[in-house]
Amino acid sequence: MEGLLFISLSVLYYNYTYFCVMVFDIHIFVCTNQRTGTDRLSCGEAHGMDLVTEFKKQTKDLKTNLKIRAQRAGCLGICDFGPTVAIYPEGIFYVGVKKEDVTEIIQSHIINKKPVERLLLKKA
Ligand code: FES
Repeated sequence: MEGLLFISLSVLYYNYTYFCVMVFDIHIFVCTNQRTGTDRLSCGEAHGMDLVTEFKKQTKDLKTNLKIRAQRAGCLGICDFGPTVAIYPEGIFYVGVKKEDVTEIIQSHIINKKPVERLLLKKA
């Protein structure tokens, strides 16, 4: 029974990856989640929307052939380290991101393919 389940999941995964198409070369998700009824800080309360605006503005002005999309996202699950930004296809998470960091992320990560070490989510 477990073998059958494994084979079924493998076939599903294969089909998913086979038909999966990347719409954008770079996809930037900025957490703009806002919580109500709790003291716990969320990225949206910090300055998530300012980050989305800045990423959109700077990527629009960029002279590149890359198809880049920056957009807001719900909670990315690492609220204590926010504001949080996730960039795909690498699946890299940046934490504690400020508006002043956007230029460095774009230049280093997106243009030069070198993640910004100081902002990376680190393993505990
Ligand atoms: S509120 Fe931003 S990661 Fe959870």
